Amino acid sequence: MKIRIGEWQIRSFRPGDVDSIVKYGNNPNVSLQLTDRFPYPYTKEDAEAWIDFAGAQEPETLFALADDKELIGGIGLIPQEDVYSRSAMLGYWLGEPFWNLGIATQAVRAIVDWAFEELDLIRIFAFVFESNTASVKVLEKNGFTLEGTMRRAVFKRGRLMDQALYAVLIDEVEREGEET
Ligand SMILES: CC(C)(COP(=O)(O)OP(=O)(O)OC[C@H]1O[C@@H](n2cnc3c(N)ncnc32)[C@H](O)[C@@H]1OP(=O)(O)O)[C@@H](O)C(=O)NCCC(=O)NCCS
Repeated sequence: MKIRIGEWQIRSFRPGDVDSIVKYGNNPNVSLQLTDRFPYPYTKEDAEAWIDFAGAQEPETLFALADDKELIGGIGLIPQEDVYSRSAMLGYWLGEPFWNLGIATQAVRAIVDWAFEELDLIRIFAFVFESNTASVKVLEKNGFTLEGTMRRAVFKRGRLMDQALYAVLIDEVEREGEET
């Protein structure tokens, strides 16, 4: 899979991404806003395991964010099961040198469009830890609505935090060529 977004792209992970995942992922400022599934420190072995895990997903839903040289982050969906089978959880991260360039906003737009097109989904949701203003902006700019706050749901680095639940439905996404 490959979606080009200007000079960046969303693409499948490659074995050669290990070093860039470690270079950009091994940063406490990145992992602070993520579950402990994204560890700190982030080792080569963690990166190898993640690439294997992503490659084993059927359908493929976990991708690299990259420029033409290297991986610069990750974005993906975890399809839900049981009665939640028409929903998927969205997650993303970007290496700190690439923050505030609008990359995540564009990448979320692209992956949401792709997911509603390719997967049999009605709803895409994301959890955001309190005070992750950048991520809230990314989601709101892409039509996600705040549905609620999960009070003190998160215990991260010794601190309890609230977690916001944001979601967008398929009929809330503007499609190219559609009248607004
Ligand atoms: C969240 C994250 C992906 C955003 O990526 P990004 O490419 O920098 O996002 P964008 O540039 O598209 O947009 C960020 C917006 O937040 C704003 N912003 C950034 N930091 C901010 C802060 N500390 N306070 C307020 N606004 C902030 C930017 O100005 C921008 O808004 P604008 O477009 O209105 O100017 C990135 O910060 C990151 O990887 N963080 C760590 C991991 C993470 O939080 N993942 C998401 C978990 S829900």
